Amino acid sequence: MKAVIRSIADATPEVRILELAAADGSALPPYEPGAHVDVTLPDGITRQYSLCCAAPSPQRYRIAVKREPQSRGGSAWLHDVAGEGSMLDIGMPRNAFALVREAPMHLLFAGGIGITPVLSMVYALSRSGASFRLAVFARAADLVPFAGELEAAPLGPSTSMHCALSADETGARIDALLAAAPDGTHVYACGPAPFMAAVTERAAARFGAGAVHTESFGAAAPAAGDRPFVLRLLRSGREVAVPAGRSALACLQEAGVDIESSCEVGVCGTCMTRVRGGEADHRDSYLTTAERAACFLPCVSRAATPVLSVDL
Ligand code: FES
Repeated sequence: MKAVIRSIADATPEVRILELAAADGSALPPYEPGAHVDVTLPDGITRQYSLCCAAPSPQRYRIAVKREPQSRGGSAWLHDVAGEGSMLDIGMPRNAFALVREAPMHLLFAGGIGITPVLSMVYALSRSGASFRLAVFARAADLVPFAGELEAAPLGPSTSMHCALSADETGARIDALLAAAPDGTHVYACGPAPFMAAVTERAAARFGAGAVHTESFGAAAPAAGDRPFVLRLLRSGREVAVPAGRSALACLQEAGVDIESSCEVGVCGTCMTRVRGGEADHRDSYLTTAERAACFLPCVSRAATPVLSVDL
């Protein structure tokens, strides 16, 4: 749908908060805490931004945009060109980071701009009277988006800030927060890849992998230990080699394979591809457990076996 930017405010030196409304004045679709929308800019670039309102409103969506030093186009335009009145296309809200409402306790970790999906989640938990703790990690206190809201009621009493820590100090804080949480706690994490890895590894050891939920919008960085593999395309009989430092999607597109993509960070499902043989190494935030048994997202995911046979 067409949307218009109603207001823009600087949250930190590197984060802007934008309020969006339907261009025709109609009501915006409802959404669940943790949801995001696709935002398509005038040049056709599509990016995903979490909806971070204190309470869902049919009149306004609120998103926060961090200027990325290596901007792939989206954040630079929204910081340097967009103004109040600028028009955008937005998609329907989608949620791959839902709260597990029946959990007795929720422990949420936000690293930097990773606060954006988490913010609507903690507001919802607060409204419902659920037990939760929010831990916010940042390079410096003045780089915490929404710091004023996080320190004030109703979130302040359940929120702790952890700024300017080394990797070891960050790990120790995460350990302490996990140790203090009761059995049955569900853990949620959003932030930079190393931060998410630190949280998920520890949280899975404490509460089990099924109690750990993550959301990531960054472009996938090559991981240490990534191995090359071969995609066997069953429909054409071709094989496409995927080196360690490249995405399967990029290799397929370079080989001329007709495959659609949008987010290219594993959150939209556009590039979903059926797997017919071999085992995928799933790195997306989109597929359900059942879908993972049959499909993978080549924009971020790789193969756990030397050959992955796919329905292409
Ligand atoms: S392009 Fe969005 S999940 Fe792959």
